[in-house]
Amino acid sequence: MASIGIFYGSTSGVTEEIAEKIQAEIGEDLCDLYSMEEDFDDAEDLLKYDYLLLGCSTWGAGEVQNDWREPLFDMEIDKPDFSGKTIALFGAGDCDGHGKHFVGALGTLYDEFKALGAKLVGAVSTEGYCFEHSSSIREGKFVGLPLDEVNESDKTDQRIADWLTLLKQDFPALAA
Ligand SMILES: Cc1cc2nc3c(=O)[nH]c(=O)nc-3n(C[C@H](O)[C@H](O)[C@H](O)COP(=O)(O)O)c2cc1C
Repeated sequence: MASIGIFYGSTSGVTEEIAEKIQAEIGEDLCDLYSMEEDFDDAEDLLKYDYLLLGCSTWGAGEVQNDWREPLFDMEIDKPDFSGKTIALFGAGDCDGHGKHFVGALGTLYDEFKALGAKLVGAVSTEGYCFEHSSSIREGKFVGLPLDEVNESDKTDQRIADWLTLLKQDFPALAA
């Protein structure tokens, strides 16, 4: 088992592709990849890892992607203990077509895992993003890495590279 677990939910494959890209950047020896739809059973899958990268696109009006719904609901009830776990969030959205609810899913995951005791890292400056509103901003920053393959796909690779550099502070495996 690798030291980092990447878990993603993706409806049309965008966040899936991003998750695969992140895994390729980090190296398959350092991180395992899980689809929330196909590979996830329960919170124990997440709790196997001390370091987690969680990917979730936003649907509806600022809501989490479908495959995360039930797991989040179950965790709200069961309250698994994520203290000692370090988590960074990423996910796809659409800053133009859905600019009033841009990447809202990240804020939902942030609140949930924080409430379960996790340390959330990897906040990203809103600079360079064009959107009307996002519920994923805390203390002036996005709680994770927003990526927009609809309008700004040319920025994705650099945004991922910058984010992985930032995560070195909190993910020892990335700094080695
Ligand atoms: C019906 C619908 C609702 C959407 N709602 C949002 C939204 O509220 N906020 C947002 O940032 N993006 C929204 N999007 C954009 C998707 O998040 C975007 O297309 C993303 O790339 C999908 O990623 P996925 O294939 O990993 O699920 C929506 C797209 C559709 C088709």
